[in-house]
Amino acid sequence: MSYNEQFKSEFKCGDCFELLKEVPDEFVDLVLTDPPYGIDYQSNRRVAREKLPKFANDVDLSWVESWVEQMYRVLKNNTHFYCFTRFDTYPVFYSAISRLFKVKNCLIWVKNNHGSGDLNGSYAPQSEMIIFAVKGKRHLNGPRDSDVLECDNVPSAHRAHATQKPVELLRQLIEKSTGPEEIVLDPFAGTGSTGFACLDTHRQRGDKFIRRYLLIEMNPKFREAALHGGLASQESLVDMPLPKKLEIAPKKRNTARTQRYRAKKDQTLWLELS
Ligand SMILES: C[S@@+](CC[C@H](N)C(=O)[O-])C[C@H]1O[C@@H](n2cnc3c(N)ncnc32)[C@H](O)[C@@H]1O
Repeated sequence: MSYNEQFKSEFKCGDCFELLKEVPDEFVDLVLTDPPYGIDYQSNRRVAREKLPKFANDVDLSWVESWVEQMYRVLKNNTHFYCFTRFDTYPVFYSAISRLFKVKNCLIWVKNNHGSGDLNGSYAPQSEMIIFAVKGKRHLNGPRDSDVLECDNVPSAHRAHATQKPVELLRQLIEKSTGPEEIVLDPFAGTGSTGFACLDTHRQRGDKFIRRYLLIEMNPKFREAALHGGLASQESLVDMPLPKKLEIAPKKRNTARTQRYRAKKDQTLWLELS
């Protein structure tokens, strides 16, 4: 593969800690990734008789700091970095990322469904966190969106990966942070959702040039699932028809809820005064 101006989208199979060393400094325009969370995750959903597989580097997080350094190195100046995380590993990712980047937000992805876990002893998890950071300075495209992103999760029966992310959600982030032809890196690509999102950006918007992607995934089965699912090469995009499903518009913030809260506060004040 040639890492030059003519770079074509690619899904590489291998260890990102090794493969990233080949990527030149300041080569990519966005990092959007969903790393292992260090929680030794095992989905309970069964495919036929087998559980969905566990994945690599999910036991400890000792790799995070040096990995963030690689992300900083390969990102151009004035670019964005999105990193999925969870409440209990957020401190590790935040501290490593904020050493080099300016962390701008912790986005909250609200899902339609929630995970299982401790059914009686904990609240049902219906959200995930995404650290949003910048290298240098860059404006977000389009209007100012809320830091709460509402998007349905991939239905569990359609998942090839235990933590597969919805393409619509990733596409929104890519569109906020890149322009056509820019290169999106996902070094923990799983089933290639970030690549599908780059292609969808092109198909839905009709942009002349696609966002290019550089995906890396260690487990060949996940990569095969992506290629089998039609993660097309850049050349075959020209004649690709528009998908039937149109964009899920981001839901408007629930201003009614804020108003109700204010009304209650006024009421309390009035009660105290009288
Ligand atoms: C949380 S999952 C990402 C799932 C993905 N967002 C999707 O929608 O399918 C993290 C992925 O990183 C992969 N992984 C872990 N360590 C890796 C490494 N050193 N190099 C490349 N991939 C790795 C795992 O196999 C796993 O598929």
